[in-house]
Amino acid sequence: MRYQLEKYVDPLPRMKRLQPMKKTKDGVHYEMTMKPFKSKLHRDLPATSLWGYNGQFPGPIIEANRDEPVHVTWLNQLPNKHLLPVDVSIHGLNQLPAVRTVVHLHGIETKPDSDGHPEAWYTNGFREIGPNFSRKTFTYPNHQRSSLLWYHDHAMGITRLNVYAGLAGMYILRDKQEKELNLPSGEYEVPLMITDKSFQEDGSLFYPSQPDGAAASLPNPSILPAFNGDTILVNGKVWPYLEVEPRKYRFRMLNASNTRSYRLQLDPNIGLQQIGSDGGLLRNAVGMEEIHFHPAERIDVIIDFSQAGGRSILLKNNLGQDADPKDDTSHIMQFRVTKGLKNKDQSLLPADLSTIPSLKQNNISTIRYLKLVGSSDQFGRPLLLLNNKHWHDPVTEKPKLGATEVWAFTNTTNFSHPIHIHLIQFQILDHQPFDLERYNADGHITFTGPPKAPAANQRGWKDTLEVPAANITRVIAKFAPYSGEFVWHCHILEHEDYDMMRPYIVEDDEQ
Ligand code: C2O
Ligand code: CU
Ligand code: CU
Repeated sequence: MRYQLEKYVDPLPRMKRLQPMKKTKDGVHYEMTMKPFKSKLHRDLPATSLWGYNGQFPGPIIEANRDEPVHVTWLNQLPNKHLLPVDVSIHGLNQLPAVRTVVHLHGIETKPDSDGHPEAWYTNGFREIGPNFSRKTFTYPNHQRSSLLWYHDHAMGITRLNVYAGLAGMYILRDKQEKELNLPSGEYEVPLMITDKSFQEDGSLFYPSQPDGAAASLPNPSILPAFNGDTILVNGKVWPYLEVEPRKYRFRMLNASNTRSYRLQLDPNIGLQQIGSDGGLLRNAVGMEEIHFHPAERIDVIIDFSQAGGRSILLKNNLGQDADPKDDTSHIMQFRVTKGLKNKDQSLLPADLSTIPSLKQNNISTIRYLKLVGSSDQFGRPLLLLNNKHWHDPVTEKPKLGATEVWAFTNTTNFSHPIHIHLIQFQILDHQPFDLERYNADGHITFTGPPKAPAANQRGWKDTLEVPAANITRVIAKFAPYSGEFVWHCHILEHEDYDMMRPYIVEDDEQ
């Protein structure tokens, strides 16, 4: 069912900053409570039931400073019954409480016990099964460069449902080096969280309980192989607009969608300068015609509206358009350059932004070939795997603490996957295409072209990257500064939940 919602009738909400509970000599302490709430996501849509951190979607922004640790107590006050259809046929989930949560801060370097391991979930405490506590306090050391991170739920087997219900928010890490650049800041620095959702006519969230045309033999509910909503939201509003002054703005964008990728474009294109990626600032600003934007990626851009006074500029998704010219998901939001200039724009866009030492100089201790594989389960449903292993199989990737490794993701499926590794930021080495038909016939990798260097805007620090179909994509990373068990996975949440996620262990020989 299509629910026709008029575009650009609601102003873009600005997320509020969370106030700390206290500051002590070991850092800044926050509390955040997951709870159900209702919110009007569009002028003409009845209020929608959601789950959110502190009852907000997106959750409030946590702002942190480099080297100043942050401690967050994450409390679960969610109901016992899930808002969305839970498939209990995967991972033996029928043994577990339907509502369970654990928070992961995506992009942070932290110890395993603060990383939000999928099996470290807990409930609201009022459960006969599962842990009898309803809160956990995680520590984020922040010994890393300034960047936009994001927190979201990561509970085993239901991450797609918890995040879709609204459990996602932003975390901005700042440092001195970035402040000295004098980029647009304050009200001219605007975080944008982009998601896609679908709605029922009563305003409630729509998430199918089974794939389209499911056979009667399928479990009900049954996990979907992918989910694309028909409506785009930015900061929790459907197709919003933002009134801006004729000056430079910095937009900190996050793709928090379950499955959907975007190709961002300005219409008319008044110039889009990308200055940062997942792990912070690039070396130099890169002028972009369009930007590919995959789930969980962050991009940091500057748009200069100074020559656009009085005009409306659309942020569009030309992937939507390619598929179908009438597809509404080709629209994201609108900028209206209708405000007067409050004061002279003193902000800068320096040519040199930061230094990024290449990891290629390091000794490479291991090269791992890791296959992205399609198979099917006993119900004939697609089952995507990493290296043909299930989540519960024994750990196979065990880098040594401090070692530099190359991970070569070999995508033998027909579509691209955004692969994410916890704990570290990596650098992309290259993508090399191979003959997938031949591989499917005889299992041999025959390259069909030379390795391609990453695009200019992909040469900074990354924690999530697109691995295209029929390609080997190589990344290089140093596995530090913490040892223990982490995870890596596809960030299409429908894939991550079933079963495109694997544990890995950073081994410390000293212990
Ligand atoms: Cu954004 Cu393991 O997740
Ligand atoms: Cu992560
Ligand atoms: Cu995937």
